[in-house]
Amino acid sequence: MTLIMNMADEDKMNNCDRVTGFRNIVVLTGSGISAESGLATFRDSGGLWAKYRIEDVATPEAFTRDPSLVQDFYNMRREELGKVAPNKAHYALAELEAELDGKVMVVTQNVDDLHERAGSKNLLHMHGELAKARCLSCGSVLSWRESINPHDRCTDCGLHDCLRPHIVWFGEIPLYLNEIDEALNEADLFISIGTSGSVYPAAGLVAAARALDIHTVEINMEPSDGQHFFHEGHYGPAGEMVPNFVNALLGR
Ligand code: APR
Repeated sequence: MTLIMNMADEDKMNNCDRVTGFRNIVVLTGSGISAESGLATFRDSGGLWAKYRIEDVATPEAFTRDPSLVQDFYNMRREELGKVAPNKAHYALAELEAELDGKVMVVTQNVDDLHERAGSKNLLHMHGELAKARCLSCGSVLSWRESINPHDRCTDCGLHDCLRPHIVWFGEIPLYLNEIDEALNEADLFISIGTSGSVYPAAGLVAAARALDIHTVEINMEPSDGQHFFHEGHYGPAGEMVPNFVNALLGR
């Protein structure tokens, strides 16, 4: 467990010792928290963006140009959900929410359903969800765990050939930005787990937390692009680091 402190010395001991006492925690997660469950990250070697071009599968223009290629990309990823399970990091965050004398909000960039399957309840999917489809005609968001095919009908308006993945593509506005802003304004601790800090607005949350004088912690396999914004960093696999940090937060 590598602890890197980015603070003046006199602050270090305070924050090293002060791991309990937080009452309002916002946790940002990225694909790294799901890596040990067997889901690919995006920018690691062999990650999804090493195999697919964002311009081909993750933009509104791509969907207009070649809807079946885009649907196939998300149908493949949706099918993977049934083959993976939450790991110790997901369960540790659900335990923190259940046991903390306070509030925990998980803001995830991930579109998998591993946080909810581990028991997290306060959860915002700012980039959408693989297990949902969105109707282009009536706007309904539907629970959808199968492949999306052209002949599938919207269960609300009945039209077919009108369903897209409920995913926020590049160039689209992430979901729940107001709720995320409200949560951050009430927080006393911001933890970032398993994200490279490459994509905004998620990557800007740590700077917003610092501006609000919130204690900031990064847990990642390696220092992210935003490492200098964090008061402290804990580097190693999430499945080991997150349970350790949750135990410290719960005073164990
Ligand atoms: N434990 C902890 N961290 C890990 C692990 C692990 N087992 N495996 C990988 N990581 C870290 C990597 O070091 C990397 O910093 O997780 C991070 C994953 O970074 P990315 O692949 O860029 O994924 P993410 O940050 O979630 O991407 C953000 O970009 O393409 C968009 O919409 C997509 O939501 C995604 C967003």
